[in-house]
Amino acid sequence: MSLRVSEQYLQGFVTAEEYKQVEESAAKALATVIKGDGAGNDFLGWRYLPDVPDKEEYARIKSAAEKIKGMCDALVVIGIGGSYLGARAAIEYCLGTNYNAFAKKNGAPEIYFVGKDLSASTITETLELLKGKEVCLNVISKSGTTTEPAIAFRIFREWMENKYGEKAAERIFVTTDKARGKLKEFSTEKGYETFVVPDDVGGRFSVLSPVGLLPIACAGIDIDEMISGALDARTAYTAKDSLYENDCLKYAAIRNILYAKGRKVEVLASYEPSLNMTAEWWKQLYGESEGKGKKGIFPASVCFTTDLHSLGQFIQDGTPVLFETVIDLKTPAHKVTVPFDASDCDGLNFIANKDLHDVNRTAFMATAMAHTEGDVPNIVLEIDSRSAYDFGYAVFFFELACAVSGYMLGVNPFDQPGVEGYKKNMFALLGKPGAQFDEIRAKLAEKM
Ligand code: PA5
Repeated sequence: MSLRVSEQYLQGFVTAEEYKQVEESAAKALATVIKGDGAGNDFLGWRYLPDVPDKEEYARIKSAAEKIKGMCDALVVIGIGGSYLGARAAIEYCLGTNYNAFAKKNGAPEIYFVGKDLSASTITETLELLKGKEVCLNVISKSGTTTEPAIAFRIFREWMENKYGEKAAERIFVTTDKARGKLKEFSTEKGYETFVVPDDVGGRFSVLSPVGLLPIACAGIDIDEMISGALDARTAYTAKDSLYENDCLKYAAIRNILYAKGRKVEVLASYEPSLNMTAEWWKQLYGESEGKGKKGIFPASVCFTTDLHSLGQFIQDGTPVLFETVIDLKTPAHKVTVPFDASDCDGLNFIANKDLHDVNRTAFMATAMAHTEGDVPNIVLEIDSRSAYDFGYAVFFFELACAVSGYMLGVNPFDQPGVEGYKKNMFALLGKPGAQFDEIRAKLAEKM
C-alpha cells in the first residue's frame, strides 16, 4: 500500500469505544458506495475510471498529448473547479511548482491555467507570456456554459485565430459533455478534437477522466502509472469493510468521530510546496461533497514549515475547533545535504552533513508532538513518494474516503446545490437575457 493511516498522534483523541460506535456505519457507507444504491448514485462513475472504460478515447488522449508536445511550446488549459484543480494538482505533485521552468528539459510544453478566475491580470499576463511561442488550447467544461472558462475561451480563441487563422482549429482540444451544451455544438461546427466528460462523473471526481488525463499527459507524466495506482488503491480499499483493516474507512471514521466531538475544521498539512495544489483539489473534493444541510467539516490547508511561521500559533493555541491531517511523504524527490562550515558562524554545525529531508521530517515529528500537546488531534497519512503511481493511489483513497465520509455524515456527497446562488445573482446583475434583473437589483439596493 502506498498510502497508510498512522494513528500515532491520535492517542487520547479517539478511543476504542468510539471506533466501535462508528464501525457499523462506516461499513454500511462503504457498502452503499460499492452497491451504488445511495443518494447521488447517478454520479458514481469515478469508481470505474481506473478500469479505463473507454480504451479508444484513452489512446486518443495519448496521441493528442504527443501531437500537442510536438507542435507547441505552451499549452493553455481553460477550466475552473473540478475542470482544472485535479490536473494542476497532479502536475505540481509529480513535477513541482516550477514545472514550467523545466518544461523544455522534460520535453513538454509549458502549461498555463486560465478561466479559473475573472482576473484581467491573469489573462493579460498569460497572453504576454505566450508571445513568440507556439500554442495549443485545451478547453475543459462539462456543462460548456460556465462563465469564467467561457470568457477566457472567447479571448484565447480570438488570439489563436489571429495567430493561426483557420489552422487554429488543429490546435484547440475540447473536453466536454458527449452531446450537450454550447461548447460541444461549437466544437463540432469548428472541427475541434473533443474528449468526453462522462455523464456519471462530477467535476471534483473527474481527475482520472479525460478532464485531468489530457493536460497531465501533455506535461509528460505517465498516465498509465497514475491509473495503475488508482486501480491498486481501489482493490486495496474495497476488499475489506472493517475500519480496523481498511485505512480508507479508518480515515473516514476518524473524521466523523472528531467532527462529532466539535472539531469542525480539518487542516490538511504537508511539508512539500509541490503538494499545495493537491490540497486545493482536496479542499474542493471535501468542501463541495460534505458542506451542505448546515453540516460538514470545513477543509483548510497549510504548507509547513512555511506556515508554522504564520498559522502555527493559531493551530497550536487558538480556538479548539481544528484537527490536522498531515501528509508524511516518505521519499523525497531530491536530495540536499546541509554543508559543514569550519567557522560555524551560524551555529548550524550540529546538523552539518544531515539530509534536508530528515530535517524536514524531524520538523514534522516535533510539530505533531507540539500540536497534540496543544490538544489538536493529528491524523497522519504516510505516502511513499511523488510518483504518478502514488498520486493516482492517493486520488482514489481521498475520493472513496470522501464518499464514505459523506454518507456517514448523512449528506449526498455528489451534489452541490450551494454553488448556484452566486451565479444566479451575477447573471441577473450582468443583464443576461432571462435572468431576474429587477428582483436581484432590488435585493442589492436593500443591502446598501
Ligand atoms: O465539481 C464541480 O462540479 C464544479 O467544480 C465544476 O467542475 C466547475 O463548476 C466547472 O464546471 P464545468 O466543468 O461545467 O465548467
